[in-house]
Amino acid sequence: MAVRGTVELDFELVDQLIEREERALAEKHGRSMAYRAEASRHLAGGVSSSWQAAPPHVVYVTHGRGSKIYDLDGNEYVDYHLGYGVMVVGHAHPKVVEAVQRRVALGSHFAQPTEEATAVAEELARRFRLPLWRFGNSGTEATLDAVRLMRAATGRDLVIKVEGTYHGHHDSLMVSVVPDPELNGPRERPVSVPQTRGLPQAFVDLVRVVPFNDLQAVERVFAEEEGRVAGMIVEPAMMNCGVILPEPGYLQGLKDLCHRHGALLAFDEVKTGATIAAGGAVEAFGVVPDLVCLAKAIGGGLPVGAIGGTEETMGLVARGEIDQQGTFNGNPLTMAAARATLLEVLTPEAYRRLDEINAILVEGCRAVIERYRLPAYVVGLGAKGSVIYSSTPVREFRDAVAIDERISYLAWLWQQRRGVFKSPWAKYETWTTSVAHSDEDARRYVENFEELAAALTS
Ligand SMILES: Cc1ncc(COP(=O)(O)O)c(C=O)c1O
Repeated sequence: MAVRGTVELDFELVDQLIEREERALAEKHGRSMAYRAEASRHLAGGVSSSWQAAPPHVVYVTHGRGSKIYDLDGNEYVDYHLGYGVMVVGHAHPKVVEAVQRRVALGSHFAQPTEEATAVAEELARRFRLPLWRFGNSGTEATLDAVRLMRAATGRDLVIKVEGTYHGHHDSLMVSVVPDPELNGPRERPVSVPQTRGLPQAFVDLVRVVPFNDLQAVERVFAEEEGRVAGMIVEPAMMNCGVILPEPGYLQGLKDLCHRHGALLAFDEVKTGATIAAGGAVEAFGVVPDLVCLAKAIGGGLPVGAIGGTEETMGLVARGEIDQQGTFNGNPLTMAAARATLLEVLTPEAYRRLDEINAILVEGCRAVIERYRLPAYVVGLGAKGSVIYSSTPVREFRDAVAIDERISYLAWLWQQRRGVFKSPWAKYETWTTSVAHSDEDARRYVENFEELAAALTS
């Protein structure tokens, strides 16, 4: 039923448009589609990560420059996928390229510390207001380290996580990421659901799941599990159901609750870190947790993870009381790219520019929504944003999954056919912008969106 003042979407029309767009994209991606068969002979499914096999078909990319990427068929796109939000520096940024080239000529790996890592740790300490840092190679490693640290520091085993958030693919947190509605139980008391086959129930039993933006639910878990909770990990603004912002007081409330019960709070800033502001959610929302997990954008395109924390948490690592290790941790190439990214590219001026670009996207899409009376709204923050196809605010995962996903899938196909690449699995993804995006790039997104709005309401 349409909410007063908005049009009701005709899903028969949506289905027809999906079919039309899929057909047109298949024509545009003939070489990619043929290549998948060849790639699949020895590369499982023809891709290196299951997410790369997003419907309607795999698109193989050849190269990228600035705000653009190019596929095997020679198509050009303005890139808002940016490798799941990594390339905020834009593709092949000259300063990152130069830093990596300089470093590779001096040797790319020693598994001994080099000076680059010190500079990066210093900059992260400044941005995220936490004194001690270590590096890894992915967001998965960062959140794995966070869970282990919370357990080690408290001597407890249980961890609280939010329903519908993804924290990487290790066993401790692959729980209730996109839980089956048949299995996930009541909203106030969600059941912990394993996200994949192969996850031992013993791991699932160590995770208690709560809805986002609900302090009472967290309080209830602490009351039920008094003295057993090591800590809570939270994505401070959810970035995989569109963008869902924390309500005022939520993050500080979590910190207070955790500390009152002798537990710790970790922010998973793999997506928000260095993108929504220089100091991520710590800066944007003014709450400093015990631990911050970073990855993606801080590495300028090289594989990176980082964990930072207080003396009480990371001090355990510094004193050798807990091991935090990895052959490639602090890899000099990665650190050279991260140093150039954080100190030379993502400057205060760059963040001002990201805000300007996002304003064009947010205001442009908002105007289209009003003009065509779509049941939708827009959220934007720093380099991130999203159109959410709901006329009521989405506060948590269950609100997001209640939206008919055909509309966001159509929006994704629509943009791609018209030269704009967004993250696959569109229902759950946001846009990311880079310092290389031009006003024209942003207007292109808005123009495509307007064309879609016209088609939906014709
Ligand atoms: C919030 C969040 N945490 C952790 C991860 C895992 O990061 P990675 O894919 O680098 O292991 C992701 C990946 O998308 C993420 O979005």
